[in-house]
Amino acid sequence: MFQADMALIGLAVMGQNLVLNMADHGFKVTVYNRSFDKTQTFIDGSAKGKSIQAAETLTDLVNSLSKPRKIMLMVKAGSVVDDFIDQLTPLLDAGDIIIDGGNSLYTDSTRRTRELGNKGLYFIGTGVSGGEEGARFGPSIMPGGHPEAWPFVKPIFQAIAAQSDGDACCEWVGPEGAGHYVKMVHNGIEYGDMQLISEAYQLMREGLGMSADECHEVFKEWNRGVLDSYLIEITADILSFKDTDGEPLVDKILDAAGQKGTGKWTGISSLEMGIPLTLITESVYARCLSALKNERLQAAKIYPRTLPTVEVEREVMLQAIHDGLYAAKIISYTQGYMLMAQAASEFKWPLNYGGIALMWRGGCIIRSRFLGEIKSAFDKQLDLANLLQAPFFEQAIKEAESNWRHAVIFGVQNSIPTPALSSALAFFDGYRSEQVSANLIQAQRDYFGAHTYERVDRPRGEWFHTDWVGSGGNIRSSTYEV
Ligand code: 6PG
Repeated sequence: MFQADMALIGLAVMGQNLVLNMADHGFKVTVYNRSFDKTQTFIDGSAKGKSIQAAETLTDLVNSLSKPRKIMLMVKAGSVVDDFIDQLTPLLDAGDIIIDGGNSLYTDSTRRTRELGNKGLYFIGTGVSGGEEGARFGPSIMPGGHPEAWPFVKPIFQAIAAQSDGDACCEWVGPEGAGHYVKMVHNGIEYGDMQLISEAYQLMREGLGMSADECHEVFKEWNRGVLDSYLIEITADILSFKDTDGEPLVDKILDAAGQKGTGKWTGISSLEMGIPLTLITESVYARCLSALKNERLQAAKIYPRTLPTVEVEREVMLQAIHDGLYAAKIISYTQGYMLMAQAASEFKWPLNYGGIALMWRGGCIIRSRFLGEIKSAFDKQLDLANLLQAPFFEQAIKEAESNWRHAVIFGVQNSIPTPALSSALAFFDGYRSEQVSANLIQAQRDYFGAHTYERVDRPRGEWFHTDWVGSGGNIRSSTYEV
């Protein structure tokens, strides 16, 4: 066997394509799969003639590698990753590196970094985005874990990653599970982008009575402007695709969305961190609601939709939907960045926000022109606290605001659900309000539970309790806390 630069375990579609990508960039790779038949088929097929060799056992694989050894796992997230780590650990020497490139939960990556560190080994948990084609020709790669391991892996990862304006869409993200955290937020944003596009599509189809072909033309046009992105591009393609009978295939697809969990993890993390990640979380719920197909069929009979009440001009409303989609997308990324900032502070991860935008600029599923604007906002102001404070996005939101409201109202008037578009607007209206209604909530909490409140005419941190009905004592709830 030749001495290889890297090993990869797990020859499903992402694994195979990453290996071919590495070989194309001059790296020598040893591959291993649990069923050797699959390895052999790969070696005799698409890997033929390339600097790729098969290992029949993990011992062979380990022995084929130059030191420090770099072994990448592209296997199902969860216990399979731990099983391979357990099998590899006794075969490795101090300083060797295990990389997990699956969609792993970030807390698992933090745990694995610590456990392997205690054994003198290094661990990198990395997000890899871009699907099959990205893996083959340039994914976005988001590595985190032991920083000591990064110099050894960097030349390989940055060579195979997508390039954007001469920069690799791959940079060190941070310690422990930071890489997988950022990939998780990427996936949450992916859910949000997909939901927004789907809402725009339904407003066009059912609100404006447009055909799939007409929607195709609109998305194609939008892809030439500020919404230019991979997801808008594939949406245009999907809408023009015909089934064997010549009808749009999209109309034959059951409206029950699947999910593998990364969007849900993002929502859970936002609740744990107290960050209002409303758009992404609504997008996860929208998939859950879509999956209740049978119940929806029943409910549709009981509560038939109200018919459109207002005549609108198609071109005018299309512009409103476009602007609403753009503004809501700004809110979604704002919320995603707020979440990452909170995670960075809680976990003490020095995240590089401009670098994250660059990693997402190319190769991944959410790649877009828009991410170039986020990157420039952070380049101009390294300590930017919130995307909505960047002049570029401030202007964009102000220009879109009125149309955004029209699009949401149009959905409401036509009984077309727009959870992402409208929750983004509700977030915006709350975020930019000097006064919200939480004074009443505080009063209610104090009324029924003596939970106390702060006063506008006294310094923050002074707590008051009122005997609202004249029969309670002056005991505050904190008295009862254990
Ligand atoms: C990527 C994608 C990918 C994700 C799928 C499916 O970055 O290439 O995010 O990692 O797993 O898109 O996700 P759902 O099944 O949850 O929609």
